[in-house]
Amino acid sequence: MDLTRRPRRLRRDGVRGLVSETDVSANDLIAPVFVDATTDERVEIDSMPGHERVPVEQAVERVEEVLETGVEAVMLFGIPESKDERGARAWAEDGVVQRATRAVTAETDAYVVTDVCLCEYTEHGHCGVVEHDAEEDPELTVKNDETLDLLARTAVSHAEAGADMVAPSAMTDGQVGAIREALDAAGYENLPIMAYAAKFESAFYGPFRDAADGAPTFGDRRHYQMDPANRREAMREVELDVEEGADVLMVKPALPYLDVVSDVRENFDHPVAAYNVSGEYAMLHAAAEKGWLDLEEVAFESLLSIKRAGADLILTYFAEDVAEKL
Ligand code: PBG
Repeated sequence: MDLTRRPRRLRRDGVRGLVSETDVSANDLIAPVFVDATTDERVEIDSMPGHERVPVEQAVERVEEVLETGVEAVMLFGIPESKDERGARAWAEDGVVQRATRAVTAETDAYVVTDVCLCEYTEHGHCGVVEHDAEEDPELTVKNDETLDLLARTAVSHAEAGADMVAPSAMTDGQVGAIREALDAAGYENLPIMAYAAKFESAFYGPFRDAADGAPTFGDRRHYQMDPANRREAMREVELDVEEGADVLMVKPALPYLDVVSDVRENFDHPVAAYNVSGEYAMLHAAAEKGWLDLEEVAFESLLSIKRAGADLILTYFAEDVAEKL
C-alpha cells in the first residue's frame, strides 16, 4: 500500500497524550450537593445511586468528602423544612441553603455555588409565583415579572450567607438582570452569576426532582423552560443573559444538547458551563447495573465529550468518581 497519510501513527501510547486535544481535570468539575432540612440523617436517593440528601449539620462533612477527591467546587441545593405558596424559605436568613452555605464557607475551602430557584420551596413545585386559577390554565401558571423580586431576594440571601457564586435556574425572563442589580445594590458587585442560560424543558431532570422534591404538582415547565427542538433560540436566550450581566453561561442538560454547548462556545467568549444532569447520570448507572456498560469508562467519556464540545466547566454527579480516578 502506498499510504502517506496514516492517522494511526499518532494513536499509540506515548504519543497519544501529547496530541490529545481535550482533557478533563478535577478543577473543571462542580459537584452538586443536596442539603435537606427535613432529616437528621443521610438519606440515599434511589434514582441517583451514590448520592444522598444530607442534613444541614452534615453539610460540612459532605463537602469535605468532595474536596478529598480533588474537586474544589460544589453546587448547593436545598430541601426546606416547609413549603408555601411563594417559596419564602428560599430567601430566609435561616433557610437550608443559607445555613449550609454559612457552615461550608466558614469551615472549608470549597468554592460554593448556590442554585437560585423556587421550585423546591413552593407547594406547587413551580419555579415562581403561580396564579390561583393556574390548575385550570396551565399555560398561564408562572407569573414572570412577579417572580423576579423573589429570585433577587434569594440570590442576595445566598450572598449574605457567603456564597461565592449564584446560579439562577428558574428560566424567568430578566432574572439575571434583576439578580445583578440586587446584588450590586447590596454591595456584592464582585459576586459572579452563572446563568442557566439555555435550560431546556427536559425529561432528563426526572431523578433530580425526586432528589430535591421539586416536581410540579400540576402542569409542566413548558412555558418557561426551553423547547428541546430549538437550537437557534438558545443563542437568543444566551445573548439576553450576556446583556443582563451573566459571567458564566450554562447549557442544561449536557449530552443531548452538545450542539448547543458547541454553539455557545463558538458565539461567545464567556466561560461555558454544561450541566450533566440527573437523568444522564441515572441512565448510565442503570445500564452499568445490568452489566451492559462499564460505568467508569462511560462516565469519563461523557465528561470528555462535554469538554470537547466546548464546555470549560461541568456540573456533574460523576465529579467525585471521575476526579478520584484522574
Ligand atoms: C431547578 C433545577 C432543576 C435542576 C437543577 N435546578 C430541576 C428542574 O428544572 O426541574 C435539574 C438538575 C438535574 O436534573 O440534575 N431548581
